[in-house]
Amino acid sequence: MPLTMALSKGRIFDETLPLLAHAGIHAIEDPETSRKLILETNDPRVRFLIIRASDVPTYVQYGAADLGVSGKDVLLEHGGEGLYEPLDLGIARCRMMVAGLPDVGTPETRRLRVATKYVKSAERHFASKGQQVEIIKLYGSMELAPLVGLADRIVDLVESGNTLKANGLVPLEHIADISSRLVVNKASWKMKHAAVIALLNALRDAVARRSNPIEAAPRAGRGAAHR
Ligand code: PRP
Repeated sequence: MPLTMALSKGRIFDETLPLLAHAGIHAIEDPETSRKLILETNDPRVRFLIIRASDVPTYVQYGAADLGVSGKDVLLEHGGEGLYEPLDLGIARCRMMVAGLPDVGTPETRRLRVATKYVKSAERHFASKGQQVEIIKLYGSMELAPLVGLADRIVDLVESGNTLKANGLVPLEHIADISSRLVVNKASWKMKHAAVIALLNALRDAVARRSNPIEAAPRAGRGAAHR
């Protein structure tokens, strides 16, 4: 049965492609140059939907896509209804952190203001510490908020830490380790079980090979690597 897979352009697409190649699936067109939103692959049974990263879980939840690749940050905000999350692809790794200006304490006369696009994750994090905060929803460039007095803290993704450093901010609290996950629509999991499992197994194998290339490589490959 045909499978529709939701992917977002950029890093997730670029890092998922080598894993899909291991499953014998190649995109025929490059989403960076094509304006098409439905991309055929070399396998007539598989096609890609190219959508915004934050929309991937929604397409998969409602079955408009059978599967997708989504960042854990996006899944934490979505909530994961209607989805299975069977595989950590180990790509697009970073951390979700609370950050702020150094040596700035908690305000005494009002609630801590936290700027973020990760509203639910931020709410959960501060609630788990029993801290009442005011969340200010932003859509990007969160690092600016503490610099201009919009917020006391931000909740954002940190990879190298360069963006925080460039803006004079420091990481303060770790919320979650983030990476991209394979998500599968619950109905597709049942109705297209064989096709979903075949793709899942191929991707799992590709992830294992990538994290342990020498052990997973066939003998010929091992010899070639030493030449
Ligand atoms: C992300 C994140 C930080 C930055 C962290 O933004 O929101 O701003 O990367 O990376 P670093 O620790 O390596 O500096 P991105 O560029 O993905 O854009 P966004 O604001 O649209 O999320």
